[in-house]
Amino acid sequence: MTPLQAATHADPYAYYAALRRNDELLFDADLGLWIASSAKAVEAVLTHPDCRVRPSHEPVPAAIANGAAGQVFARLMRMNEGVAHQCPRAAVEPALARLDALHIAGVVRQLSACMHSLDDWMFTLPVSVVAYLLGVPGERLSTVAGLTRDFVACLSPLSREAQLRDADAAAAHLGQMFSGVLEQTGLLKPLLDGDWGNPDALTPNLIGLLSQTCEASAGLIGNTLVTLVRRPDLLEHIQRVPALVTALVEEVARYDSPVQNTRRFVAGRCSIGKRSLGKGDTVLVLLAAANRDPEANPDPDNFLLQRPLRRLFSFGVGRHQCPGQKLALAIASQALRELLRQPSVWANACQYGYWPSLNGRIPRFQSGV
Ligand code: HEM
Repeated sequence: MTPLQAATHADPYAYYAALRRNDELLFDADLGLWIASSAKAVEAVLTHPDCRVRPSHEPVPAAIANGAAGQVFARLMRMNEGVAHQCPRAAVEPALARLDALHIAGVVRQLSACMHSLDDWMFTLPVSVVAYLLGVPGERLSTVAGLTRDFVACLSPLSREAQLRDADAAAAHLGQMFSGVLEQTGLLKPLLDGDWGNPDALTPNLIGLLSQTCEASAGLIGNTLVTLVRRPDLLEHIQRVPALVTALVEEVARYDSPVQNTRRFVAGRCSIGKRSLGKGDTVLVLLAAANRDPEANPDPDNFLLQRPLRRLFSFGVGRHQCPGQKLALAIASQALRELLRQPSVWANACQYGYWPSLNGRIPRFQSGV
């Protein structure tokens, strides 16, 4: 197994434990990547000022640089450092933090009525909820969710030519939609009032909220279903005590993270622990391995609903840490509550593989489920 294959391997956790035996960064000569797997190394990389989200010679991946998708990518807070990161972040973070969990649960409940397949529940529902909060009219939510999925396809190095073309079309379409008339209430109002530094950053980062929601939330909902079908005792327990659903989703996020790894690009010679890194080096940061580090979470291979002081690396650490964590957990928890009432939707969920990816762990349930 390689650290990239691990993301979609049936059970990568013993492999991660073996990597973690070394507290320091390891260099994988075959992949040409430094690997951070312990909680300490992961945290050190993600909080290091010289470890950046993009390589300095390629701020936008060459494959998308010349199209509409590349123009969105170039402005995303997720893909920038400095002012182009801090200004959008300062607008988005407090607006997301103010969202009320009960309100979100109500929106999820309402939109659940339009979900049919498990694919809808995993991919369409979370993006529709965020789009709804941003003022997208009800009749356009499923189109927006489809366009978002087309856009995120360009973010993977595994994307094919046709997917890159579809992503350009989707980025252009979403851009037009956000510059058109949306209901300027709810989440959108404080975002419009925020200081974006550059007004051209607003629309790409609204698309960014949808794209960041899409696959990670699908993975969170899907991996929770996988846990329940593998553990009938847990399913029975949750059915008896539905108040534990939030704890269930949080522990799944730790135990089987939908985002298994992220990357950082070294902008200048620096030391991390005992290792010296050079400008241009790349670090693969194994968030899912850090979640299972006993230094961060005692008895890490035990799935504990009521884990005291759960330490989550799945949402990142440091200046790019996910500002959508609370929202994502609220959406996934309510989706699960609804799914528990509709067992026929996921009756065959024991048959699954994973969507091809180098970093996402998203179950692909057999079609017809
Ligand atoms: C409502 C759903 C979500 C929204 C709106 C959202 C939004 C965002 C945004 C805007 C960022 C970029 C932050 C920055 O660069 O400063 C981000 C980063 C991140 N998100 Fe989320 N997210 C959502 C769901 C999730 C889920 C379910 C996970 C995984 C469990 C996740 C994991 C991450 C990680 C790991 C990062 C940091 C990546 C890095 O540092 O390289 N997100 N998220």
